[in-house]
Amino acid sequence: MTDVVVVKFGGGLITNKAKLCTPDLAIIEQLVAVVKRCLESGLQVIVVHGAGSFGHLRAKYWRLNEGLLPGVEFAPQDDCSSQKDAVSLVRKDMLTLNNLIITAFQKVGVSAKSLPPHRWARNTGSGFSGDILGNFTITEEVPITFGDVVDCDNGEFGILSGDDLVVRLCRDIPNVTRLVFAVKGVDGILSKPPEQATEDDLIKEWSPSIVYSGIHHSEIDVTGGIELKAKRGAEVASFGIEVMLVNGEKPERLFDACIGRQTRGTKIISE
Ligand code: IPE
Repeated sequence: MTDVVVVKFGGGLITNKAKLCTPDLAIIEQLVAVVKRCLESGLQVIVVHGAGSFGHLRAKYWRLNEGLLPGVEFAPQDDCSSQKDAVSLVRKDMLTLNNLIITAFQKVGVSAKSLPPHRWARNTGSGFSGDILGNFTITEEVPITFGDVVDCDNGEFGILSGDDLVVRLCRDIPNVTRLVFAVKGVDGILSKPPEQATEDDLIKEWSPSIVYSGIHHSEIDVTGGIELKAKRGAEVASFGIEVMLVNGEKPERLFDACIGRQTRGTKIISE
């Protein structure tokens, strides 16, 4: 069986996080080129991407991560007047972002299959329900899924993070050997805040008991930032899968991490 690598493109990496629905097409093309090289090296790849400014800003305003809030009065936006409208708009925006990635793959001659979670998954957290094996049967197409607004048993809807999706992909698909998180602006998990950190503050091997500096922009994010990645990464490592977190702006490091070659970044291990 061919080895499968699951790669998560952080939303902050593929978009300008502060500006509504602004993709970083140059980075997307760079990441897609790395995936293509992985395929050429004989690996199968599953891509999961985040939302960045295509999801968090509106989801945060309308508190979509808290589910339906009938008692809360929201000030309407020009193009959106209720939480339910916001659910549709965020889903639509996520499809737009996903489409940009699918198109980038097509441009380099790789066909990719879009698997929007709101069509096949229910509930949030890594225990969400959904037929992983049925949807992600590996063909010559690269399966691509992403953080999304999904229907939920409680609260009608909620946010399923790409960081939760990767846990289940790694657990349920039998031949996943590696999980790589590609993030923006840092070389891995750091022991100091990025603005104070020097080269030496990179934690080369992280396990849950090691103190680190979280950079969770809770004023923007509705999901968990680096903390969720670290936590979910350790969960995946406990399945015996190699987990790396690397700087997604450095394509060579991302490629090396995907093929299992030593590179600069943080290796996440379970306790
Ligand atoms: C968030 O998904 C999904 C929405 C806000 C709709 P992620 O948790 O995977 O996104 P990033 O990587 O933080 O942007």
